[in-house]
Amino acid sequence: MDKLIIEGGVPLKGTVDVGGAKNAALPILFAAILVDGPVRLKNVPDTQDIVTTLRLLRDIGCECRREGEEVVLDAKNLHPEAPYEIVRKMRASVLCMGPLLARLGRVRAALPGGCNIGARPIDLHLKGLERLGAKFDLAGGDMVGSCESLKGAVVHFDTPTVGGTENVLMAAVLAEGETVLENAAKEPEVVDLANFLAACGAKIAGQGTSEIRVRGVSSLTGCGYGIIPDRIVAGTYLVAAGITDGEVLVRNCPFAELEPVVLKLRSMGMGIEKTPEGVLAKRSGPLRGADLTTQPHPGFPTDMQAQTMALMCLAEGASVVEESIFENRFMHVPEFCRMGAQITVRGRTAMVRGVSRLKGAPVMASDLRGGAALVLAGLAASGTTQVRRIYHVDRGYEAIEKKLGGLGARIRRERE
Ligand code: EPZ
Repeated sequence: MDKLIIEGGVPLKGTVDVGGAKNAALPILFAAILVDGPVRLKNVPDTQDIVTTLRLLRDIGCECRREGEEVVLDAKNLHPEAPYEIVRKMRASVLCMGPLLARLGRVRAALPGGCNIGARPIDLHLKGLERLGAKFDLAGGDMVGSCESLKGAVVHFDTPTVGGTENVLMAAVLAEGETVLENAAKEPEVVDLANFLAACGAKIAGQGTSEIRVRGVSSLTGCGYGIIPDRIVAGTYLVAAGITDGEVLVRNCPFAELEPVVLKLRSMGMGIEKTPEGVLAKRSGPLRGADLTTQPHPGFPTDMQAQTMALMCLAEGASVVEESIFENRFMHVPEFCRMGAQITVRGRTAMVRGVSRLKGAPVMASDLRGGAALVLAGLAASGTTQVRRIYHVDRGYEAIEKKLGGLGARIRRERE
């Protein structure tokens, strides 16, 4: 296992490029299962979750290869078994269910366990797919799904679910007749999946709203497609500028999709301006506390909660953070407190009292975004911070120490 060693206190300066969105690339890679013929994807980020996904796709018979900047896939010869050890390692593997049911009428995938941030059930995925005609049985911890054929239906989600919307959308594009997804997730990554499917010939309307309409087609044809930039990675670098009192130009920054984050960071005393070259981020004055509640898009994204809390630790005054999406997404709190932060947690609410400085310490990442937040805290802290179990961060950030080092951070990777 690797760890990052950070000598904090250096204001970050310079330019950083944002890669493709992990949470758009993952469903789009699985959607390639639906397509007759080769699919050429640009801007696929080189992160661990993508490597895991490509391995799973190869294991179920999909040809995948990187050709320079592109990932080329061809799902000519598929078989419907998703191996447990991969599903266990990456929950997003459940996104193979909709496509395999639509393409082969069968799927066997391990019921993913929970993860550190919550139970992560998939009941809404299964209910939605059952509405389209699939039947599921649990066999030895695997969810075995089958269908004679998929027929369009109205699918209402009790709560907006990104993965559930994506799974049902991917099944619906090859189902017979019309499907309406009600209370659908509106995240930009869901929109990107829908746009990719449409580029392959799917008939979809309403992506980005709570009602998505799909008219099934008999097949999809291969195409070339570019993945949208990663708004969460971009937001992480905006916070890196603020927490180190530096000045960073974030290129390929999806500004519109980051509006709730930009508004919150501005309210905390950051100056964030869109320029022709990218988004320029720095402090506009002393950092001030703020309150936030995580919500489905277009609310404040749960995936930026931990990183924003890192900034709150050094803001004047108090901040109240309510995590309404996941039941256990405060694992970064005790690690922040080891660095001198003043935070108390009551259930899904954290109260942060700003301190004048953080002190470097050995800390441990427990999940992807919490780990990224610990790196941010280490950049600001005086002295040395060791962030262990950095494999969590590698799942969603490309070579984070190289990108931060390019901005002047004193940071290096060591093997544990
Ligand atoms: C996606 O996870 C993202 N992952 C998460 O990003 C992100 O935090 C989350 O959406 C919310 O935006 C990917 O896209 C690969 P949900 P997903 O289904 O689809 C409950 C990161 O750091 N729910 O929208 O799993 C669920 O428990 C990751 O990049 C059910 O109850 O999230 C949660 O409380 C972390 N039953 C809420 O809905 C279901 O069947 C939202 O979950 C499905 C979900």
